Amino acid sequence: MTGTEPALRIDTTRPHPARVYDWYLGGKDNYPVDEALGRQIMAIDTGAPRAARSNRRFMQRATRHLAGSAGIRQFLDIGTGIPTEPNLHQIAQSFAPDARVVYVDNDPIVLAHAEALLRGTPEGVTEYVQADAREPGAILEQAARVLDFDRPIALSLIALLHFVADTDGTYELVDTLVDALAPGSCLVLSCMTADFEPENVREGIERYAAGGVTLVARTHDEVGRFFTGLEVLEPGIVSVKDWRPDLALDESPLGDGPVSLYGAVGVKS
Ligand SMILES: C[S@@+](CC[C@H](N)C(=O)[O-])C[C@H]1O[C@@H](n2cnc3c(N)ncnc32)[C@H](O)[C@@H]1O
Repeated sequence: MTGTEPALRIDTTRPHPARVYDWYLGGKDNYPVDEALGRQIMAIDTGAPRAARSNRRFMQRATRHLAGSAGIRQFLDIGTGIPTEPNLHQIAQSFAPDARVVYVDNDPIVLAHAEALLRGTPEGVTEYVQADAREPGAILEQAARVLDFDRPIALSLIALLHFVADTDGTYELVDTLVDALAPGSCLVLSCMTADFEPENVREGIERYAAGGVTLVARTHDEVGRFFTGLEVLEPGIVSVKDWRPDLALDESPLGDGPVSLYGAVGVKS
């Protein structure tokens, strides 16, 4: 495990995105302050846990595509979250036991649970880097100790970028990361949108802000800007629930209704 700064204290006085997401997913690695925000969001939109599960399944299907038919063997996953099985490396290494995976997050609770992310196949590699997505240069430097940037890499920014305001250089950080990738590499991301449920999402953003958490909704076009210069694979930029359902690993029904996250996969030529 490596990091740009020493392990930080877990702050249980205010909600953290990784822990609220863990609460939505039914995990146990969250605190009352995270549950309180999760319950406030559910009072606005009972579908919030369903959206979290839909997003997690998008990660699973996208990874299945990348490690399967796309043949990618290297993965850089930024904004990894608290381990929730199956984790990205488990899916990738089930297709390619020699897959190399670098996980990155800036939340000390993810660092505290990183051991579970590092239990991969003997043939492959999993590494955890404690770093902030707003410092892409530091991430690239550390990832290069494990990944070969002359060969294709799948860069995943799944349910991450809505926690980074444009004023913090969201588009620039994505450009810096994508510029470092070799041809044949892929960008996978999901990002919250207000396009489907504007009022619920606006209220949700206000609750997160009151809890001290930045949350940004982006339109279809704004999400499309992240893929500038890349070929976006079918079915394009769609609600995560509608991205390649044919690749599903987990078939249990999640229920109907909108899921306010866009997801897509783009390829660098
Ligand atoms: C909603 S979780 C998503 C987890 C996982 N990618 C998934 O989609 O299942 C968002 C994650 O992004 C992390 N995150 C938020 N802002 C970040 C930043 N600036 N740098 C690194 N990680 C960040 C949070 O700590 C959290 O673990």
